[in-house]
Amino acid sequence: MLESSFGCGDPVAFSGLREGQTVLDLGSGAGLDLVLAAAKVGPSGKVIGVDLSDAMIERARSNARAAGWENIELRRGAIEARPVESASVDWVISNCVINLSPEKDQVFREIYRVLHPGGRVLVSDIVAENLPFWVRRSGLLTVACVAGAIPESDYLAGMAAAGLTAPAIRGRMHYSARQMVEVVMESLPGWTLALFGWMVRPLLTRMAMPVAGRLWSVRVAAHKDDGDETRS
Ligand SMILES: C[S@@+](CC[C@H](N)C(=O)[O-])C[C@H]1O[C@@H](n2cnc3c(N)ncnc32)[C@H](O)[C@@H]1O
Repeated sequence: MLESSFGCGDPVAFSGLREGQTVLDLGSGAGLDLVLAAAKVGPSGKVIGVDLSDAMIERARSNARAAGWENIELRRGAIEARPVESASVDWVISNCVINLSPEKDQVFREIYRVLHPGGRVLVSDIVAENLPFWVRRSGLLTVACVAGAIPESDYLAGMAAAGLTAPAIRGRMHYSARQMVEVVMESLPGWTLALFGWMVRPLLTRMAMPVAGRLWSVRVAAHKDDGDETRS
């Protein structure tokens, strides 16, 4: 099922998901993290995946069925106004999606809204510092999770402004120029590579050089306060 992952980390592995809990995955894609989360929360828990794309919702549904989990529910919708009740989930996870949103502050407010008091969020995402302006304006590099990435400090400030408590970077993974080329190549439609593969790789390699070192993935954690002063 690894071909069903378009993520940049493993939020489920680093979360403290427990049996019986409810977890929401923002931008669930083809559903790998949904299946991993379902295994952690078990049949008494519930996993909700939200995604904009009908094709991804269908793929995730079929992957969930193939994995044998009946407690995975797919909902089509935007992460900026997601179809989830307020104060209804124990965990929000997300893997390489929030960078794609032009309204990140709204996404953070929605995370706060849907969490139970005491609920937690753990996301893996791409962040960036000082990207060249031509990278910021590239539609191709937006889809490839590059152009929309914001600095770590903005990520943490956005979460705090939304009301989330103790936002913190829990891990970082840096990419070489070569790794970035491979990631972007994987996000391109097959026909592009079939027709233009011979020129896409050298072009992307030239584009990746000035970006290397300015872009990396992070694991970000925070929680919604429940008034318990002893929480770490
Ligand atoms: C890079 S893929 C990551 C998918 C999945 N999280 C994974 O790790 O494989 C981004 C996913 O986010 C979805 N997406 C992008 N923007 C979205 C938005 N504003 N609301 C909901 N889903 C969105 C896309 O349809 C796509 O499935």
